[in-house]
Amino acid sequence: MNVLVVGGGGREHALVWKLGRSPRVEKIYCAPGNAGIGELAELVPLRADDVAGLVRFAREKKVDLTVVGPELPLTLGIVDEFERHNLKIFGPGREAARLEGSKAFAKELCRKQKVPTGFFGVFSSSEEAKTYVREVGAPVVVKADGLAAGKGVFVCRTVAEAEEAIQEMLEGKLFGDAGSRVVVEEFLEGEEASFMALVDGMSVLPLASSQDHKRAFDGDTGPNTGGMGAFSPSAVLTDSVQGQVLERIVRPVLAGLEEKKIRYRGVLYAGLMVRGEEAKVLEFNVRFGDPECQVLMLRLRSDLLDLLEACVEGRLEGVRAEWDSRASACVVMASAGYPGPYQTGVEIEGLEEARKWENGVVFHAGTALRDGRYVTAGGRVLAVTALGSDVPSAVQEAYRMVEKIRWDGVHYRKDIGRRAARSAGDRGA
Ligand code: AMP
Ligand code: GLY
Repeated sequence: MNVLVVGGGGREHALVWKLGRSPRVEKIYCAPGNAGIGELAELVPLRADDVAGLVRFAREKKVDLTVVGPELPLTLGIVDEFERHNLKIFGPGREAARLEGSKAFAKELCRKQKVPTGFFGVFSSSEEAKTYVREVGAPVVVKADGLAAGKGVFVCRTVAEAEEAIQEMLEGKLFGDAGSRVVVEEFLEGEEASFMALVDGMSVLPLASSQDHKRAFDGDTGPNTGGMGAFSPSAVLTDSVQGQVLERIVRPVLAGLEEKKIRYRGVLYAGLMVRGEEAKVLEFNVRFGDPECQVLMLRLRSDLLDLLEACVEGRLEGVRAEWDSRASACVVMASAGYPGPYQTGVEIEGLEEARKWENGVVFHAGTALRDGRYVTAGGRVLAVTALGSDVPSAVQEAYRMVEKIRWDGVHYRKDIGRRAARSAGDRGA
């Protein structure tokens, strides 16, 4: 089969890597990909959001299955367009992708379906939003309704901070249209975890649990990022919590979509805040998490193509996924300055040594080739991912690989997985 993967980050490298291990995959294209992906797939110089260009390419090259990594093309309706041309594609359609594309849509669906989540209000008037903030008090969270590349969320410790965030989004147009409505919501405390499942209508295949690290610096300090590291499994997503997530969150949301005549097909990712035995929804994503995908792909033993194809073809019922019993961990190596402005084109050293690793893979996120050498080309540059007998061992293994790699200004968190050790300790495990 010919497969096209859309996107060019660490998540897409992991998807390409795993698809490449399927005996049924003959050829992989990736648009636009990155230097690491270029070793496994033919790179296509098309942007992930160039929907018309991607349709043309898939028709011309007789692509049998397209797998979409990032959210933007999904919210733009890439799946609807491909299907209109009878092209097979993995991911939710435009309407279903609103679960991620509009935080107001997601929260309102939760309210209607009585899905556990924090209280909230949706506003386009800054006066009304500020009045609400003064009523509910701080801490409180202010979010741009639309996609803002992971930057549209402000966790505000004081009412004044929240008022300022509201002012910047609604009056200052900080995120343009994406911030023309804001969601003001309850600040939830607990441990964050990621629950992902393959979904085809009402059939749900839960994937292994994971956790990521959103903040830029150690000790969960600094600004939010796309994710600085991840590990799998998550100790807080016990079997009983996962059962609850399935019954109280995932199924009611799918039922709510069905009521609106929206069929969900693809990965459904529930970002959760877990406290004791209770999980509440922070957000939904309509795709694999990045870097959660990297830790999952390393543990997945089943053929990814089989799973994705079963999902696209509506045959997911009864399908199971096999996982490596070992744990995995990922450390993201980023450019100096990320998630703020950063420099690119800096030469990366040590990749050759790290790639010989037996129990790990260096997934590329933002890299390019210059005169045959790897250089940085993004904020998140590498996602160094390894297996180990448990999460602390996997983390240790990933850091051993990280130590082999260096470039001017590299920064990464030194405490990936420490939360796992802590939450296991809290449970006396
Ligand atoms: P989101 O993109 O909605 O997941 O928000 C990004 C990050 O902000 C989350 O991963 C959390 O760390 C934090 N966050 C978002 N919503 C809340 C909330 N209601 N309470 C506490 N933290 C939150
Ligand atoms: N790592 C979180 C996300 O992909 O949204």
